[in-house]
Order: sequence, then structure tokens, then C-alpha cells
Amino acid sequence: MLVTGGAGFIGANFVLNWLSQDGTDGIINVDKLTYAGNRNTLASLGGNARHIFSQTDICDRAALDKLFAAHQPRAVVHFAAESHVDRSIHDPAEFIQTNIVGTFNLLEAARTYWGGLDAAAKAAFRFLHVSTDEVFGSLGPGDPQFSETTAYRPNSPYSASKAASDHLVRAYHHTYGLPVLTTHCSNNYGPYHFPEKLIPLMMTNALAGRSLPIYGDGLNVRDWLYVGDHCAAICAVLARGRVGETYNVGGWNEKTNLDVVHTLCDLLDELRRKAIGSYRDQITFVKDRPGHDRRYAIDAHKLERELGWKPAETLETGLRKTVQWYLDNQAWVRNATSGDYRNWMANQYAE
Ligand code: NAD
Ligand code: DAU
Repeated sequence: MLVTGGAGFIGANFVLNWLSQDGTDGIINVDKLTYAGNRNTLASLGGNARHIFSQTDICDRAALDKLFAAHQPRAVVHFAAESHVDRSIHDPAEFIQTNIVGTFNLLEAARTYWGGLDAAAKAAFRFLHVSTDEVFGSLGPGDPQFSETTAYRPNSPYSASKAASDHLVRAYHHTYGLPVLTTHCSNNYGPYHFPEKLIPLMMTNALAGRSLPIYGDGLNVRDWLYVGDHCAAICAVLARGRVGETYNVGGWNEKTNLDVVHTLCDLLDELRRKAIGSYRDQITFVKDRPGHDRRYAIDAHKLERELGWKPAETLETGLRKTVQWYLDNQAWVRNATSGDYRNWMANQYAE
């Protein structure tokens, strides 16, 4: 199986989960290793013959063609992307390049390879595109959750680039018959999450004694899903999803950012008590994100009904596991937050 972006947060969790199961296919892991890619996350796979890592940019068509020819994958699971909304606001160019042009290249390489397969291999081949709920835009407080038929209304350069890639994937099925599947997942959290995103950033700052910067009034709502549950959903869609269909993936866990940060502080107070006071004392309200989407919420009934998937973790159990993981893996955090991370933090939170 060819996995892109398998050194990033969700991709690496997927690769580790997949290879921990007996009898699964080997993985060719294709990742450019941007600031978000981290080979330390994959360190436990050293010497595992079922994992081959290739530092490759998905915008490099010739390199992709060689990888398809050499490894003859039976499926592609496409995670690689620029994924951070704030970075897309500061500097959108790389989002257009990787998320749109890169996905186009990968589709072209996959289509060429797939066109040369025999009838049985062609029918069995799958291209699974990992997308996001952000392509559907922002909900008001009383609006129904996003379903698979909700109209696209992306609001940030990131979500617009993901929307464009979704359209290309859809078109490759409609026009060429490429056997594609697309998933739209809500906000993930869990181990190996790069500390530029809300949950790992709050934990990293809390433990370092820094302020916990909440954008705007802190009442924006996200629907949180433990990363292991997202990986299980992808496995279900890959194995049993109907070709050409899209599937929403969500945790039925709508919470305001303030609620999430309060819960994190309370867990840290319990598991790593400070000498004086509570981690909640470090919360500060900062300038809002431009164009900040107010609410995301996912209706995941189709995935439950058709493929029998349900999240195993509640937000309470998942957050507790996650906080404990960060406390136990401070060396990983130190490594991830060295280098360019400091420049990003200094610029983004300058005020
Ligand atoms: P991430 O930023 O942690 O990881 C992205 C990975 O892609 C990194 O390893 C990076 O090196 C690699 N990459 C970037 N550009 C590349 C290129 N040109 N060629 C090859 N590799 C490249 O992202 P993530 O949070 O793990 O998200 C993975 C996917 O899931 C993305 O497509 C994202 O849109 C989607 N998604 C994320 C979430 C979430 O909450 N994090 C939710 C829903 C969907
Ligand atoms: O919904 C799925 C999406 O979730 C994915 O497609 C994206 O790749 C992923 O990054 C995530 O996007 P968000 O913008 O929702 O995640 P982020 O962790 O950046 O922010 C979550 C919320 O927390 C959001 O309302 C902004 C807020 N926030 C974020 C940061 C980094 C803060 O209040 N302070 C912060 O410092």
C-alpha cells in the first residue's frame, strides 16, 4: 500500500496502527518531511521489512511514477497536505502547491499505473483521499451537522485548497473510472500531534509555564475525534467503502475551545500538579484568527450505518490518554519543538 504523509500526525498514527496488525500489507511511506513530518515518530519501525520510507515530494511526478512501478501498490491512502489553517493565512502558496498540484500529480501517477493493471487488479485498486470537514464551511449554533450532501463553502486558503483537491479526486472517478473514496473528518487529537494545533500547543505551553492563547472569545466549536478512531474509520472505508462515495467521520463531541482548554488544564492539574495555582491561570485571550469558522459538526451516520464504524473513545477517555502520552513523551515534544517551530511561535503569537 502506498501512503502519503505518513510521517505527519494522522498518517504516522495510521502507519503505526496498520503495521501493528498481523497479516496487513507492507507500506511504502511517501513523505517530503516538511516542518510537520517527523521521522522520530516512526522510530519504532526501524528494521521492519514491511515499512519502506521514501522522502519524496508528491509534486515530483517522475519520482511518483518510479515508486508506483517499483512497489506495485494495491491502494493509495493520501494524507500528505499542508494542514494548518493559521499557516495558510500567513502564506497560502505552499497549500496550493501541495494540496492541489500535489494531489493532481498523485492522481495522474495513480491513473497511469492503474491503467496498466489487469482487470482483477484494476477492480481491486483503491485511491483513498483523506479530506476534512472544513470544506463545508462554518455552521451557526442551531444548524444541522455537516452531512455528505452539504454544499462546499470553504473559508480559508487551507480549506479551499482541500476542496479543490476533493473536486479533482471526484472528477478522476467520474471521467476515468479511477476507484476513489473520500473521507471528511473532524478535528483529530492524540499522540504525535504537532504542537502548533490547539490541543498539543496548549499542553506544551502549559508545561513550559507560558500563556495559553485562546483566539477571540473561545466559543468556537469543534467536533473532536481521537486519532485512533479516525485511523479505524479509514481502514473500514478502504476495506468496505463503496467506490466513488464520500464518508463523514466525526466523534459526536462538539465542544467550545474554552471547554477543551479547561478540561486539559484540569487533567494537567490532576496528573502534573503545579507548585502554586492551576494551569487555568495561564489562559489568555488573544486576537481572533481572520475568517475564523464558528462551528464544525459532523453527522457520521452514513459511516456507522453502512460500514459499522463507531468511535471507541469518548472525549474524556481520549483526552486523558493524550495528556498522559504527552507527559510520558517529553523527548518527542522537545525534538518536535526545536528548530523552526520557535520562529513560527514568535511570529504567530507576537502580541
Ligand atoms: P500534518 O501536517 O501533521 O502532516 C502532513 C504530512 O504531509 C507531513 O508529514 C508532511 O511532511 C507531509 N507533506 C506535506 N507536504 C508534502 C508534499 N508536498 N509531499 C509529500 N509529503 C508532504 O497533517 P495531519 O494533521 O496529519 O493531516 C493529514 C491529512 O488529514 C491532511 O490531508 C489533512 O487535511 C487531513 N485532516 C486532518 C485533520 C486534523 O484534525 N489534523 C482532520 C481532518 C482531515
Ligand atoms: O476540522 C478538521 C481540521 O481541524 C483539519 O482539517 C485541520 O488540518 C486541522 O488543523 C484542524 O483545523 P482547526 O483550525 O480547527 O484546528 P486548530 O487546532 O488550529 O484550532 C482549533 C480551534 O482552536 C480553532 O477554533 C482555533 C482555536 N485556536 C487554535 C490555536 C492554534 C486557539 O484558540 N488558539 C490557538 O493558539
